Amino acid sequence: MKMHPIITEEEIRHRVKELAVEIRRDAIGIEPIFVGILNGCFPFLADLIRHLDITCSVEFMRLRSYGAATETSGVVEITADLSRSIVGKDVIVVEDIVDTGLTMSYLLENIKTRRPRTIRVCTLLDKPARRRVELKLDYVGFTIPDQFVIGYGLDFDEKYRNLPFITAYEDEKPV
Ligand code: PRP
Repeated sequence: MKMHPIITEEEIRHRVKELAVEIRRDAIGIEPIFVGILNGCFPFLADLIRHLDITCSVEFMRLRSYGAATETSGVVEITADLSRSIVGKDVIVVEDIVDTGLTMSYLLENIKTRRPRTIRVCTLLDKPARRRVELKLDYVGFTIPDQFVIGYGLDFDEKYRNLPFITAYEDEKPV
């Protein structure tokens, strides 16, 4: 199947390196904990931390949001939680995409109750056209239009996460 990337492998590689520089600049004197939100974050987080020559650690959370296949309902359940305390720590939440923002909003409220020192958000993709809650995103890879996208961690029905680039999914197929 021939696919046409809307963000190529090379563009992703270049931008992820730039994000690592921004994060490093803000991380002087601190040891951040990256909290990756599964499943979508895994290629992005893996690439990002390999560009960061700082002392840091990595944790994961898995969330399930209820709704149609291409739409979040805002009802979120934590199905796998952090394995240790983040009290007093500097947390950087890593997502593949912020769309309506409902997942991130829920997550940030939840993480705040665990009393970290700071919380920052790093997302590979931002789709502001669909935002339903106000959110501050500290590190954004790419701002994209209102288009359903797959690849580099993003799925449709759990498929296509393995694509090394990002492409659109329209009329029940990748384009
Ligand atoms: C995606 C993405 C975010 C959420 C963003 O997760 O990883 O967690 O949707 O949408 P929102 O801003 O509208 O809330 P998904 O539920 O598809 O799970 P996945 O990471 O396993 O693909």
